[in-house]
Amino acid sequence: MNQPVMGGVVALNVPAYVKQQRLVAWVAEIAALTKPDSIYWCDGSQEEYDRLCEKMVAGGTMKRLNEDKRPNSYLACSDPTDVARVEDRTFICSTDKVDAGPTNNWTDPVEMRATLNGLFNGAMRGRTMYVVPFSMGPLGSPIAHIGVELSDSPYVAVNMRIMTRMGRAVYDVLGTDGEFVPCVHTVGAPVVAGQADVAWPCNPTKYIVHYPETREIWSFGSGYGGNALLGKKCFALRIASNMGREEGWLAEHMLILGVESPAGKKHYVAAAFPSACGKTNFAMLVPPASLNGWKVTTIGDDIAWIKPGADGRLYAINPEAGYFGVAPGTNTQTNPNCMASMEANTIFTNVALTDDGDVWWEGLSKEAPAHLIDWQGKDWTPAIARETGRKAAHPNSRFTVAAIQNPVIDSAWDDPAGVPLSAFVFGGRRSTTIPLVTEARNWVEGVYMAATMGSETTAAATGESGIVRRDPFAMLPFIGYNMSDYFQHWLETGRKIAASPAELPKIFCVNWFRTDESGKFVWPGFGDNMRVLKWMIDRIEGTAGGSEHVFGITPRYADLSWDGIDFAEKQFDQITSIDKAAWVDELKLHAELFEKLHHHLPKEMVSTKAQLEKRLAA
Ligand code: OXD
Ligand code: MN
Repeated sequence: MNQPVMGGVVALNVPAYVKQQRLVAWVAEIAALTKPDSIYWCDGSQEEYDRLCEKMVAGGTMKRLNEDKRPNSYLACSDPTDVARVEDRTFICSTDKVDAGPTNNWTDPVEMRATLNGLFNGAMRGRTMYVVPFSMGPLGSPIAHIGVELSDSPYVAVNMRIMTRMGRAVYDVLGTDGEFVPCVHTVGAPVVAGQADVAWPCNPTKYIVHYPETREIWSFGSGYGGNALLGKKCFALRIASNMGREEGWLAEHMLILGVESPAGKKHYVAAAFPSACGKTNFAMLVPPASLNGWKVTTIGDDIAWIKPGADGRLYAINPEAGYFGVAPGTNTQTNPNCMASMEANTIFTNVALTDDGDVWWEGLSKEAPAHLIDWQGKDWTPAIARETGRKAAHPNSRFTVAAIQNPVIDSAWDDPAGVPLSAFVFGGRRSTTIPLVTEARNWVEGVYMAATMGSETTAAATGESGIVRRDPFAMLPFIGYNMSDYFQHWLETGRKIAASPAELPKIFCVNWFRTDESGKFVWPGFGDNMRVLKWMIDRIEGTAGGSEHVFGITPRYADLSWDGIDFAEKQFDQITSIDKAAWVDELKLHAELFEKLHHHLPKEMVSTKAQLEKRLAA
């Protein structure tokens, strides 16, 4: 199938193992539009990865780290204008605006195609277009799906090799007529003949565009994270949530962990938290020594695809194969397993470089090194930081690392069948109001809790940090369709399970972040979250008590295990108490949300709120 030259433009160089004519025709079409100098089909090999990294080292995009300290690892530093997901430039272009809903940016798809055709025209000039085939989920799993990303960024190609099952084997699953989600990406910075390239090409104009009806993704202008690694938020959440709605499954912003009791009984739990709320830490939690024999293992740290199995239960996979985690705050105390994961074979982005060729970020060690090169390539010392407030690492700096490097990876993490879920957990970052943990009394109440979740914003997306925004299901920036219809889809999923022989997973709501009068976190968090997780498992097993309040069921002090920790009942009360006045205000915010989402808002949401109000008034 080799077609060396296409219309006199660029050699397509299709490898013999690519058997799908539709894919080849699409690659040719995008090449004709974007006009790259060459096309390279990624095979996913180690040799290819090493070669592309070396090319980026030569071009100044990456630095190789000290081989003795951080073998086979690199540091990439981005343009200071390209450091996070750009939610205000992210679009859901359904035919009808109402299908994107009030929480997504929408543009008519015909208009958007015209805009993008203009922008993509010649956008890859002077660059190589990489053809990146990937499977989200274990190759050939009935829960997995395939994508192909065309990108002019070698940084994208190597990150995709870590973050997904990327390479030649994908074509065997794809065959001559298999389905794939086409993903087109350009940094939007053609190389002008005779001019040198820059280390991190990007464009001030950015578009992250999804066409849900045709299941396509087009991304222009950014080379960073979720804007550019299109398997992650764009495919695995925004497009997949549409696929799930049509096909009867769930694509969620959830970590998945395994919890094994001392008796050897294992449960799997999926947990949704907004960006940078400690999801990776929770997914790799180390139980306190005093909780003898409890074990936590990781299936995934960010995204879950969940499909009903033949037995009616929900089975989950991690569609990703790596972690793209936030570096600042990660250290051997907060997440020893994560630190162990990134000892080698890691790509760091926007962290600081030490004088001996290793990496550093705020929170890695108590004391900062005496001198660093910061993420913007400038000299950095603790004194400079004190004077200017300048961070050594960007607050949204990241590590990209393969899941298999995680010492507590679950033995079933790559199982094509997925793992059966016993519970869903929803958590936001709230300094007030929301108790440490609450169990929903039923599925509808759980959906209500998830739908009305709020969280204080962080650095994972551009915009102001620290303000509370409603983040239903931790999916505000990731639902690829109308949010009210999404609530309905969750309610229907519950109804389907209830009609099957399977038991419904329990739903819990957590908040690790309540603060005291001086603004300090009361709950120690991290490994001690195991105490909360244990209570959930005991509830599932029917062995733990709790007390019912307006919002749901919360453990009493005596219902949690306090071995090995000095945590007074008074402190516990501080983070589990229901402040009625705060709840009256909270419900006003729920009302505001529901007003915004009134179109198609399920009646169950309104009636659950009414019951809450009634209990509050009683
Ligand atoms: C992420 C995010 O990068 O949620 O995982 O922003
Ligand atoms: Mn995330």
